[in-house]
Amino acid sequence: MLKIKNLYKNFGSIKAVEGVSFEVKKGDIYGLLGPNGAGKSTTISIISTLLQPTSGEVLYEGSNIFLDSKPIRRDLGIVPQDIALYPTLTGYENLLFWGNVYGLKGSQLKKRISEISDIVGLNERIKDRVDKYSGGMKRRLNIGAALLHMPKLLIMDEPTVGIDPQSRNHILDTVLELNKQGITIIYTSHYMEEVEYLCNQICIMDEGKVIALGRKSELVELVKEKTQISIRFDKTDVCVLNSLKEIRGVFDANIVDEGITLFGDNGDTLLAEIIAKATEHGRRIESIDVKKPNLEAVFLHLTGKALRD
Ligand SMILES: Nc1ncnc2c1ncn2[C@@H]1O[C@H](COP(=O)(O)OP(=O)(O)OP(=O)(O)O)[C@@H](O)[C@H]1O
Ligand SMILES: [Mg+2]
Repeated sequence: MLKIKNLYKNFGSIKAVEGVSFEVKKGDIYGLLGPNGAGKSTTISIISTLLQPTSGEVLYEGSNIFLDSKPIRRDLGIVPQDIALYPTLTGYENLLFWGNVYGLKGSQLKKRISEISDIVGLNERIKDRVDKYSGGMKRRLNIGAALLHMPKLLIMDEPTVGIDPQSRNHILDTVLELNKQGITIIYTSHYMEEVEYLCNQICIMDEGKVIALGRKSELVELVKEKTQISIRFDKTDVCVLNSLKEIRGVFDANIVDEGITLFGDNGDTLLAEIIAKATEHGRRIESIDVKKPNLEAVFLHLTGKALRD
């Protein structure tokens, strides 16, 4: 559906995007994951034809969007990172305004606004002024505005930043529901939990570059040896530590906070062996905590830094 090929964007001496390539297939919920300044919004602005790249190509259904921007503009709904609403108008009036921008009118527009109010869960508040809305409600209305013209491709730029958990959950559910209805989605975030939960394909960006992409399972393969296991025994000492170090696949075992924390390359089989070693030494296990590798670990592994500050 959408191919991004070797995209570069400089703002003066700032290299915002440096050689970004990825492909979004019809039906995807495609995650763009990266910390502040990674180049996510710049990439999105280019895909939305709001910004010309310094070089590189974007193909929508096989055609270059900078030679003919009509097809992508017709099919694209965009939820910008910064809320684009008129605070002194009601939710309804805002949707009327955006509907007119998209060329919708009359009873067709009214019907669509009523559907949208349902989808984003604002039915009861749609006649209230937007400056009386909570942050989460504004976000939801912002999403509604992007849906008015029935887009085939929806791009959401960090739609859950700074909002209450209830609105956040509502937005995540909406994303899944819209995707079920056939809308392809590009979802930008620096919350790896959201991207893990929603996205079937993930592109991790940092400092303008793609550092990894693929399915979540493929990305996690990159750090599969990094399962972290923390065990508390009734008594922890060097003797039990050394015996755990003998287990094949265990590395970097240390006594931490009166327990033992180790890394291993296969969490599931390690557990049985850890329990066996404990029994052998007559130790009782009080707790075991297994942390499977996640996207945070992938990011740390590839960049040497945490995804969030
Ligand atoms: N219009 C602009 N003029 C100058 N520099 C810009 C402009 N837009 C973005 N940048 C710079 O480009 C880099 C990438 O910014 P971008 O907004 O694309 O990152 P982002 O991944 O969306 O970050 P965030 O999570 O903070 O939204 C940053 O260093 C930013 O300061
Ligand atoms: Mg951004």
